[in-house]
Parts: sequence; C-alpha cells; structure tokens
Amino acid sequence: MKLLVCCLLAITCCVLANADNVERTMKLTEVLKELRQLNKSVEHNGVMLNTPTMDIEECCFLSTLECFQKMVPRLKTKQKKLQCKVSRNLKPLTFTGVDSCSREEREKKVCQGCDSYPMKDSREFVQQLESLLQKAMTRLV
Ligand SMILES: *[C@@H]1O[C@H](CO)[C@@H](O)[C@H](O)[C@H]1NC(C)=O
Repeated sequence: MKLLVCCLLAITCCVLANADNVERTMKLTEVLKELRQLNKSVEHNGVMLNTPTMDIEECCFLSTLECFQKMVPRLKTKQKKLQCKVSRNLKPLTFTGVDSCSREEREKKVCQGCDSYPMKDSREFVQQLESLLQKAMTRLV
C-alpha cells in the first residue's frame, strides 16, 4: 500500500513537472513570435544598443535577460504596444527553470554589466535576443 502511494506520488510529480515545462515552452514560443512580429515593424536605421554576447556565464542568465529587457524599449518602432509586451514578457518568471542557480548563487555572482556589452545595431540586437530565446527553450528539457 505504502509503495503504491509512493509510486502514485512519483508519477503525479513527474506529470506536473512536465506540464510546467510545456507551459513554459509555450510561453517562450509566444515571446519569440512577438519578437519576430515586432522586428518587422522596427526601423533598422543604425540605432545602436548594448548587446549581450551568447557566452553567458554560469548564473548570469537572468542578468543577461535584464539587459535585453532594458534595451528593447529603445528599438525604433511605431508598434509601441507590441514593444511593451515583448519587453514585459522578458521577465524572469517567463524563464523559470532555464538555469539551475539558486537566488544565493545569483546574488554572490558578479555578472557583466549591461553597459559593458558591445554596441551592436538593432538588427543584430534582435538576432541575439532571438538566439537567447531559442537557447532558453532547449535548456528547459
Ligand atoms: C529582422 O528584420 C530584418 C529586416 O527588417 C531582417 O533582416 C532580420 O533577419 C530580422 N531578424 C529576425 C531575428 O527575424
């Protein structure tokens, strides 16, 4: 009887964890779609933005994300609502489980500051953000 309860618990936990991942993947897919849509409306006319590189250090994922989030509002576009939405969705909650670092580990770690990333034009910036989202999706499994 005890064993049965244990098994049931294990299965339930497993199913729930997977459902969580499915939900997160869906959310990330949505953000990716919105980003591509936003990109179509962006006037890529030489606007330069600090653009994190993809060699993200251990426990620095959220810090990198924060930098992208800060820069998105500087893209030149008339689609302000979509722009806000994309920026808003780049919140840590969307990326839960992408890295396995604890809050303490993150606080201890000194990550590269947003201002120290190289300035890239807006086209390249969007490209890098797309890579980040794709990377986040593969790390969920
Ligand atoms: C963004 O749009 C530009 C053209 O406006 C295009 O060259 C580029 O590939 C697009 N980037 C992404 C990530 O879709």
